[in-house]
Amino acid sequence: MTTEHNPLLELSPQNLRAHAAEALTRARERSVALTDAVDDEDLVRQHSKLMSPLVWDLAHIGSQEELWLVRDVGGREPLRPDIDDLYDAFQHPRADRPALPLLGPAEARAYVKEVREKAFDVLEKAPLEGRRLTESAFAFGMITQHEQQHDETMLATHQLRQGEPVLHAPEPPRAPAVRLPAEVLVPGGRFTMGTTAEPWALDNERPAHEVDVPAFVLDTTPVTCGAYGEFLESGGYQDRRFWSEPGWAYRQEHDITAPRFWHREPDGWWRTRFGVRERVPEHEPVVHVSYYEAEAYTRWAGKRLPTEAEWEKAARHDPASGRSRRFPWGDEEPTAEHANLGQRHLRPAEAGAYPAGASPLGVHQLIGDVWEWTSTDFHGYPGFSAFPYREYSEVFFGPECKVLRGGSFGTDAAAIRATFRNWDYPIRRQIFSGFRCARDPRPGEAG
Ligand code: AVJ
Ligand code: FE
Repeated sequence: MTTEHNPLLELSPQNLRAHAAEALTRARERSVALTDAVDDEDLVRQHSKLMSPLVWDLAHIGSQEELWLVRDVGGREPLRPDIDDLYDAFQHPRADRPALPLLGPAEARAYVKEVREKAFDVLEKAPLEGRRLTESAFAFGMITQHEQQHDETMLATHQLRQGEPVLHAPEPPRAPAVRLPAEVLVPGGRFTMGTTAEPWALDNERPAHEVDVPAFVLDTTPVTCGAYGEFLESGGYQDRRFWSEPGWAYRQEHDITAPRFWHREPDGWWRTRFGVRERVPEHEPVVHVSYYEAEAYTRWAGKRLPTEAEWEKAARHDPASGRSRRFPWGDEEPTAEHANLGQRHLRPAEAGAYPAGASPLGVHQLIGDVWEWTSTDFHGYPGFSAFPYREYSEVFFGPECKVLRGGSFGTDAAAIRATFRNWDYPIRRQIFSGFRCARDPRPGEAG
């Protein structure tokens, strides 16, 4: 079975270098925008115990770039060996980071700038062949994705920040006035999951392997705030039957009664979004729910969460060719018509707002808008091998983390594709997490 076709593989070494430079530059523009939006006092403050001060993320971005591009790929002398430990995420949990002797805002900005100049010099001069780390400029792609991932984390920090709005973006497109069917049947059979061909795929997406996925039914769109509100209003948070054992314990302990950032007002539900108070929008995918809340909703609805394999099959399988593709719409990189990505808008778009991004079977918004919880624990695929470091994925494998798929409005196109895997603890909801429901076909339904 043939797999996806990747444009990166056709670039000449010179064009590959230019592509990598552009990707790095776009990531940096985002990091700068997110950190320039607040004053120095705000940059060093911890807005939530769950997050680092923004100034930590900024210097950590530079530190990883120095480690991999300047020192490893470039073989250059360390710029700041003295700060390696401060920006090692495994040395210091997020809650402890504000107390560290971190680089201040001006120092951190100067540091990332200096690292970037060196990294560009390495990109110009280093041979790209002969080493797996530099094959197809992988290390530069990995560092681009790392920076973009922290840019999404910084956006989540902005969402937790108190005070006047400082981030602004145009409204996302509205959904066209066509009514989509609520569900889609995905036929059973084998498909190719994961990838070997995608040059910038990270270790946990590899290798490509065949998986047999029996027929299942999937929601056409993520669950909307309106639908979620019905669960809420009908007493779903008070009904033990819908919650798993650990889910109910979590709901009780933290007195969880609605998605994070929602508030009950006499005239209905409101939410705070990047400092703006607004009515909860009925047609927009619900965001900031934990795995346990998502799971409870699916049980209330008489459904379940999709497995990770089901999600990926819905996103990649082309029934006409039998091929697995890079995105629901095909192999081409996302454009503004395909998906709500890249912090272009600071909210999910209405369900159905991206018809051009739908899969051949008619599943919408698999990419962008909200990360989607799946029921699968995070593990390596058969044949997994950690590359280039165990701490990216492997140390998180196990039953503690659930896989999320598809990216959110806060995720950049450089850091998402239909094979991309994210993960988090099932209690987490400061991330841009939503979900859609799946179910088994009813007798006769699977054809
Ligand atoms: C893939 C989003 C779970 O932020 O913890 C950033 C990405 N890894 N730096 C995270 C990551 C190292 C990671 N997630
Ligand atoms: Fe990191």
